[in-house]
Amino acid sequence: MNIELSEEQRMIQAVAREFAEKEVRPIACAIDREARFPRETVRRMGELGLMGIAIPEAYGGSGGDTVAYALALEEVARVCASHAVIMSVNNSLYCDPVWKCGSEEQKERFLTPFASGQKLGCFCLTEPEAGSDARNQNVLAVRDGDGYRLGGRKIFVTNGREAHVALVFAQTDRARAHHGISAFLVEKGTPGFSVAKIEDKLGIRASDTAELVFDDCPVPAAHRLGEEGQGFKIAMATLDGGRIGIAAQALGIAAGAYELSVAYARERKSFGVPIARHQMVQWMLADMATAIDAARLLVWRAAALKDAGAPFGAEAAMAKLFASEMAMRVTTDAIQVHGGYGYIKEYQVERYFRDAKITQIYEGTSQIQKLVIARHLLAGPAPAH
Ligand code: CAA
Repeated sequence: MNIELSEEQRMIQAVAREFAEKEVRPIACAIDREARFPRETVRRMGELGLMGIAIPEAYGGSGGDTVAYALALEEVARVCASHAVIMSVNNSLYCDPVWKCGSEEQKERFLTPFASGQKLGCFCLTEPEAGSDARNQNVLAVRDGDGYRLGGRKIFVTNGREAHVALVFAQTDRARAHHGISAFLVEKGTPGFSVAKIEDKLGIRASDTAELVFDDCPVPAAHRLGEEGQGFKIAMATLDGGRIGIAAQALGIAAGAYELSVAYARERKSFGVPIARHQMVQWMLADMATAIDAARLLVWRAAALKDAGAPFGAEAAMAKLFASEMAMRVTTDAIQVHGGYGYIKEYQVERYFRDAKITQIYEGTSQIQKLVIARHLLAGPAPAH
C-alpha cells in the first residue's frame, strides 16, 4: 500500500500551509473574539485555488483531488477552524453537487464563479424539525408556471449570510416523502429570500451560521439541480463527501492544539525542569500524536477511495466519527497540558477546544455516523474470520 503523496498534493498542502501561517494566523484570535467573517482572507483562498480544489480547471477549480482537498483543509484548520468550514462548505457541500448534478448551463452560472472563489455557496438542508432526521423536510416548493415558489425556513446554514447562492432542499411532492424532495439553486437577491438571524456560537465564531427564510420565493425550473424527487439522494451523497472535509477539519484542529501543547511543554518549567520532562505530560503528548496520526490515515483512506471512484460512505463516516471525537479529546488534553494558562484566551488552546465541539455535531452527529457505519456493515457480507 502506497501512502506517498504526489507532487501536486504536496504543492496544494504547501500553498494552504503558507497561506494559513502568514495570512490567517495573525487574525485568527481577533476574528474569533469579534465573530467577524474574514471576507478578505476568504477572497484570498479563492485566488489561491482553495475554494474548488477537486473541481476541474474547466469549471474554475484547481483540478486537484479529494486527498489534496483534505490536506489543504487540515492545514487551514490547524490555524483557524472558521476559515476551514467556510472553505469546506463551498468545496464539498456546494461545488461538488453542482459539478456532479448540474447541466452545462448551470455549471457556467452556478459553478465556475464559485469554484474559482469569486462567489460563495451554501447548503441548506437543516430545518427546525429536520436535523438528524434530514428527510423530514418542511420547506415547500410549489409549482408555479415554468418555475416554483419556495416557502419555509432553513437553519444553521454555514455561509448563509455571505453566500451568493444557496443550494436549498425542498418538498416538491409531500405525498412521496423523501422521494418528493428536490434541490434548488436560489440566488441572493431573489424576492422573498432573506437572512432572518445570525447565530451567536460557542466556536467557529468567524464563520456565519444563519437562519434563512423563503417567503413565496420564485425559482425558475432551470435552477432545479437534478430531477424532481432526486433531492434527498443528492443531499445524502453530498454529505458522504462533506464528511471527509469535516474529518480533515477536526484533524487540523487537533494537530494545531497538539503543536501548541508541545511548544508550551518544552518552554514551561515546573519542579525545576520543562514540563515536557514529566512522564505524565509525555504520556498526554504521546496519546495526542498517536490519535492524530490514526485519524489522518482514516481521512486519507476515505479521500483516496473517493478519488478512485470506489464506495466510500462508510469510510467517510468512520473518519468523521473518529477524527471529531479525537479532536475533542486532544483539545481537552491541550488545555490540561497548559494548566491554568490553557483556560485563558491568550494561550489560544481554548479556541481550539471550542472549535472542536462542532465537528461532533454538524454534517451528521457522531451518533448519526455510527448509524451510517452500522447500516453499511450490516448491508454487506458477513466479516471473514
Ligand atoms: N447516498 C445516496 N443515497 C442515499 C445515501 C447516500 N449516502 N444514504 C441514503 N440514501 C438514500 C437511500 O438509498 C434511500 O433511498 P430509497 O428510499 O430510494 O431506497 C433514501 O436515501 C433514504 O435512506 P435512509 O432510509 O437510509 O434514510 P433515513 O431517513 O433512515 O436517514 C440518515 C438517513 C443517515 C439518518 C440521514 O438522514 C442523515 O444523514 N442525517 C444527518 C443529516 C446531516 O448530516 N445533516 C447535516 C446538515 S448540513 C451541515 O451540517 C452543513 C454545515 O453547516 C457545515
